[in-house]
Amino acid sequence: MATPFDTRQFVNECRDAASANDPVTATRAVVREAVRALASGVVTLPRLDSIHARRSGDMLLGHDRTLFEDGAATVTVVETEPGHYQPPHDHAMCAVIGVFEGGERNRFYRRTEGRARLATRRVVRPAEVIALRERTVHAISADAGEPCRALHVYLGPLSSRPRSLFHPESGIEEPYDFDTYLYYVRAA
Ligand SMILES: [Fe+2]
Repeated sequence: MATPFDTRQFVNECRDAASANDPVTATRAVVREAVRALASGVVTLPRLDSIHARRSGDMLLGHDRTLFEDGAATVTVVETEPGHYQPPHDHAMCAVIGVFEGGERNRFYRRTEGRARLATRRVVRPAEVIALRERTVHAISADAGEPCRALHVYLGPLSSRPRSLFHPESGIEEPYDFDTYLYYVRAA
């Protein structure tokens, strides 16, 4: 029988990694180990309590659950439902993404003169981990019509750091706002 994923231990490991000399490399290692275990079925994710409910976004996009947030790290479980393209955005901090179920389709954008222009795409698959720089602009959707589940760890306070959102058609940059983020969701 599978062991429940120890979310408290994972959060503690992420907090330690965030204060390491090389926090991105340390966080990648923590997330890689976690998604390998979850993707293999050796451990399973228990029912989660979050510290931030994400309002109507839950119904439309899936479930994002913040397990922990302080000034150094934000630890989330991101469940993405198929059928939607989420809009381009940055995080204004480094981020590490590890997928453990389904495929997370990432579109990456080049920033030029206050706009984001599509540059590359990558589907992140179970047990894979990627790192995003502070100014990286990405947009996610679930691949192949199946829900995707991933761990997203941010090296800073995601809910309070000013950051940017980009219009899905024009690519024009504006301050991040969650209601506008939902308004910019498009059908996949
Ligand atoms: Fe993101």
